[in-house]
Amino acid sequence: MHSKLFFLLAGIGGLLGWVPASAQLAGPGAIKANNCAACHQIHHKRVGPPFQQIANRYAGVPDGASYLANSIRTGSRGKWGSVPMPAQSQVSEDQARTIAEWILTLSDKNVGATKHVDKGALK
Ligand code: HEC
Repeated sequence: MHSKLFFLLAGIGGLLGWVPASAQLAGPGAIKANNCAACHQIHHKRVGPPFQQIANRYAGVPDGASYLANSIRTGSRGKWGSVPMPAQSQVSEDQARTIAEWILTLSDKNVGATKHVDKGALK
């Protein structure tokens, strides 16, 4: 009896643990909280490049997440056009990393992960 219950709970825990929810849910939240959405959308160019395009460029790059986390905190210029991105130094290193990992999930090579995000634009 008890062992069955144990396996059931362990199974549920395993499922919850397996879903990379932290990266996917924390990403959009942090992006709104840090005002990134003033300049970035997922699919459409605003002041800055769309996050999906950024993902496509860096998804295959070794250590792309570290690179992007650094770009977020120190800003970027000349990579996408003539408008520079000011340093977002209010973002902590951990948060920048979480956001960077989430951005990379938006790559076309990872379409399944973006489905739920497509519906809720970052307004
Ligand atoms: C004032 C407008 C503005 C804000 C606010 C802003 N960005 Fe940007 N972002 C840009 C622009 C413009 C670029 C393109 C810069 C370039 O050409 O190198 C960019 C580029 C980027 C890149 C790609 C950098 C690279 O190395 O290719 C990432 C990732 C990014 N932004 C994430 C964020 C995140 C996350 C936030 C919020 C914490 C944010 N941005 C806030 C305007 C902005």
